[in-house]
Amino acid sequence: MNERKVNFTIDGQDLSAAQGTTIFESAKSIGINIPHLCYHEKLSIYGACRVCVVEVKGKPRLEPSCATLVEEGMVVKTNTSRIRRARKMIVELLLANHPEDCFTCDRSQTCELRDLAYNLGIRDLRFQKARKYHYDLDETSPAIIRDPNKCILCSRCIRVCSEIQAVGAIDFVNRGGKTQVLTFFNKGLNNVDCTTCGQCILACPTGALRERTAVDDVWGALSDPKKFVVVQTAPAVRAAIGEEFGMPAGSLVTGKMAEALRRVGFDKVFDTQFGADLTIIEEANELVERIKNKGTIPMITSCSPGWIKYLEHFFPDLKKHVSTCKSPQQMFGAIAKAYYAKKIGVEPKDMCVVSIMPCTAKKFEAQRPEMRSSGTQDVDIVLTTREAGRMIKEAGIDFVNLPEGDFDKPLGISTGAAVIFGATGGVMEAALRTAYEVVTGKTLEKIDFEEVRGMQEIKSAEIDLDGTILKVAVAHGLSNAKILLEEIKNKTSPYHFIEIMTCPGGCLGGGGQPMPTNEEVRLKRAESIYQEDRNKPIRKSHESPAIKEIYKDFLGKPLGKLSHHLLHTHYIKRPRY
Ligand code: SF4
Ligand code: SF4
Ligand code: SF4
Ligand code: FES
Repeated sequence: MNERKVNFTIDGQDLSAAQGTTIFESAKSIGINIPHLCYHEKLSIYGACRVCVVEVKGKPRLEPSCATLVEEGMVVKTNTSRIRRARKMIVELLLANHPEDCFTCDRSQTCELRDLAYNLGIRDLRFQKARKYHYDLDETSPAIIRDPNKCILCSRCIRVCSEIQAVGAIDFVNRGGKTQVLTFFNKGLNNVDCTTCGQCILACPTGALRERTAVDDVWGALSDPKKFVVVQTAPAVRAAIGEEFGMPAGSLVTGKMAEALRRVGFDKVFDTQFGADLTIIEEANELVERIKNKGTIPMITSCSPGWIKYLEHFFPDLKKHVSTCKSPQQMFGAIAKAYYAKKIGVEPKDMCVVSIMPCTAKKFEAQRPEMRSSGTQDVDIVLTTREAGRMIKEAGIDFVNLPEGDFDKPLGISTGAAVIFGATGGVMEAALRTAYEVVTGKTLEKIDFEEVRGMQEIKSAEIDLDGTILKVAVAHGLSNAKILLEEIKNKTSPYHFIEIMTCPGGCLGGGGQPMPTNEEVRLKRAESIYQEDRNKPIRKSHESPAIKEIYKDFLGKPLGKLSHHLLHTHYIKRPRY
């Protein structure tokens, strides 16, 4: 940004800001949140909805504050009767074209359009319903449902998909009243190169995008006397699910969450972090083996299914760079059915494994044909954090005042290394804690790798493994991943090991997390995750007693025959559109 300063006033306050700052941003800096719809803090300016209009002295028209830069001597008003009338009219026109089903809408509690209508004092609908078209829902995806009837054409989903995720699976088609957001040739999200990341759901201000809910499937399994139903919860869920119950962003609620799930009726409450510790053992050993045997490097982490689908569509030639380790969710599912079910005398077909994930892409991943190593689908049902929150509410559980519960053994035992999987850089750090000791045979004294933490878009570091220098990089958000992948493609990548997470901030910013999920909220959830790591008595995956036991009792050794069968996978090439 230009460092030259300009002086201006907003609502009578004298201000100075760098040239290039918008009126919207300047107003925000003094605590004025101008109502808006198409504006999004992390995306390019679209400037189409005009809800954010303000008066600028000397200009005959109201100006969109998100798309207008401050100028020397500018005099801005953000709240006059003319402005309020204009904003109200815009929102009333949107409502005239919008279904009136807030009662049953997935977003009824978090809809920005409904909030705006309320805040602007719209209490009756002045305009006749203007809607001419009824569009079919896009229900092709196992993870995401699009309802074009609720779309207000703000383009936030289009921009997040192309600018943050470098995918571009959706765009505007047609003109005027027939304008719609659609996939290529209206083939449906499942039939194009959508990664199922769900970032568009988080960006959408209305109920036009939502996850495909599986809550009723879980209630069905819980009421089936023949089913033994176990639940696993991903690391990032414990740092976010409290928000569904009005708790402050990033509240760490591990114990309450375990207790709530037990009261919902699951037979066993387990932890995906057991799967994360297992992933680290396999992945750290895979990395060491690739480096020792001059295998394909850089090796890239594989636990984010949105990233894996992106690779399969956009960079299939780089498949051999990706670790063959399944994600923690899928390792857990395979172990639950192939090991734990047998141990307790339950047939794998009678066990139902439910996952609670911060992620919509995990719904897609669980259904991949490769994920049936136990002889049946390893993970049966995936709920997002939001769906799990609704389920707990439906059961009438007073989440906020619950006592602290605990996970069941043995698949509920985990380490600090596993919890940091929820934050960008966490898988890398967890792997380094184990790889160091595998390579050197020495105890790692300083186990915090601060260099790979934080929200910087791409982080890189050189890690000294007792004389062997390991060059590592971490990217979150697929547009950042693309930069590292292009380097590999061009044979200029200097790295040995790369972590890629689909979602900004990692899973704590996943597409299934409570709304809002923004930069401020992501940082708070990250703090909780690192706090949980510090609280854990054991912080290295290979020191987990549950992990030691499963290798002794069942798996044998890392990268062994059984591990390969249950814990590793392969990737396919998918088409581009
Ligand atoms: S789920 Fe992700 S990839 Fe698919 S349309 Fe939405 S933002 Fe794009
Ligand atoms: S689907 Fe949602 S985010 Fe996308 S244009 Fe429509 S209202 Fe905006
Ligand atoms: S980063 Fe996490 S939430 Fe996002 S797609 Fe990957 S696994 Fe899912
Ligand atoms: S928020 Fe500024 S024009 Fe839409």
